[in-house]
Amino acid sequence: MKKHVVFFEVAGGTDKGPDGYRPDTMPMVESLRKRGWTAEVIFYSDEKKDEIFEHVVRSADAYVSRINPGNLKDESTYFQMIRQLCEFGVKGMPHPDAMINYGAKDALVKLRETPLVPEDTFAYYDIASFKENFPKSLKNGERVLKQNRGSTGEGIWRVQLVSDIGEAEEVPLDAVVRCTEAKDNHVEEHTLENFMTFCEQYITGENGMLVDMRFLPRIKEGEIRLLMLHRTPVNVVHKKPAEDTDAFSATLFSGAKYRYDAPEEWGDLVHSFMASLPTITEKLGGYDLPLIWTADFILDTDEQGRDCYILGEMNCSCVGFTSQLSLSEDIADEIINILSQVEAVEQ
Ligand SMILES: Nc1ncnc2c1ncn2[C@@H]1O[C@H](COP(=O)(O)OP(=O)(O)O)[C@@H](O)[C@H]1O
Ligand SMILES: [Mg+2]
Repeated sequence: MKKHVVFFEVAGGTDKGPDGYRPDTMPMVESLRKRGWTAEVIFYSDEKKDEIFEHVVRSADAYVSRINPGNLKDESTYFQMIRQLCEFGVKGMPHPDAMINYGAKDALVKLRETPLVPEDTFAYYDIASFKENFPKSLKNGERVLKQNRGSTGEGIWRVQLVSDIGEAEEVPLDAVVRCTEAKDNHVEEHTLENFMTFCEQYITGENGMLVDMRFLPRIKEGEIRLLMLHRTPVNVVHKKPAEDTDAFSATLFSGAKYRYDAPEEWGDLVHSFMASLPTITEKLGGYDLPLIWTADFILDTDEQGRDCYILGEMNCSCVGFTSQLSLSEDIADEIINILSQVEAVEQ
């Protein structure tokens, strides 16, 4: 082993500390150094990709990706480079396809045969299937439409039917819908037809899609974020939306309150999620779990009247731990642990 790890970041952006890096990156570099390893941070840019590729292939056992692909001009060039690094034997943390598969909103649809996701969860990849199916799913109750891009509640819409539609099999296009965006909980009323036309933007273009999911009213009690270090639950963040009537968003900007708990305080959730991990890995392409990632849950009530936890989304492309920097020690241990196992298999 070379005992060297590279951290990829992009220059600029609002997530950087005074040294120009993400505040939780240098702590990981330092923790690796303490363990007799070396590490460096590389700012990725399309112009430098060949140079970076050569350097990393030659010098590093692994890369840790700390870039929100949405912040890149063209994410496909970056993905191509890290995919090639993996092909040349550099361990991807995570592999680009793991990043895409775990992080995309349609992961929910792939997991709907598990107890984690309601069966009536759909993904639309073309406008025709959206127009055909959404009026039917909305007939059955309030829905949430989720775009795939963005990560702060932008393009995440709660959709409620306002008009009385009698016994109709599907919601007519001229019915009025009340739409609340999770970005800031603002409300708009439109005809269903106009709103669906507006939503076409989320389906067109690269990685475009809309996920159509049942609205879970217990979001009022908060969203529960499990922070995972590879296979180990590290902590639970309980995010409670603002108290206003329309508020359903758990993002900080929209006024939600955050509380940090130990995983032991959420025993049922952690237990059932850990039991589902092998299925999740298998259904999402069989890739190794990301190094640092999160799974978000909303409470629901099952047919027996018991509490259950529904998966809302997973994030793995740029999860931070700025509020708990001491985690860098465990992360360094886990990086070394993963690489030692890779080496043991290859020998
Ligand atoms: N099915 C749902 N029922 C109720 N609220 C939801 C549902 N899905 C998402 N939300 C709310 O919308 C917010 C944003 O949705 P999310 O899927 O997390 O997208 P983003 O990538 O923008 O964070 C969540 O934090 C949660 O408050
Ligand atoms: Mg979210």
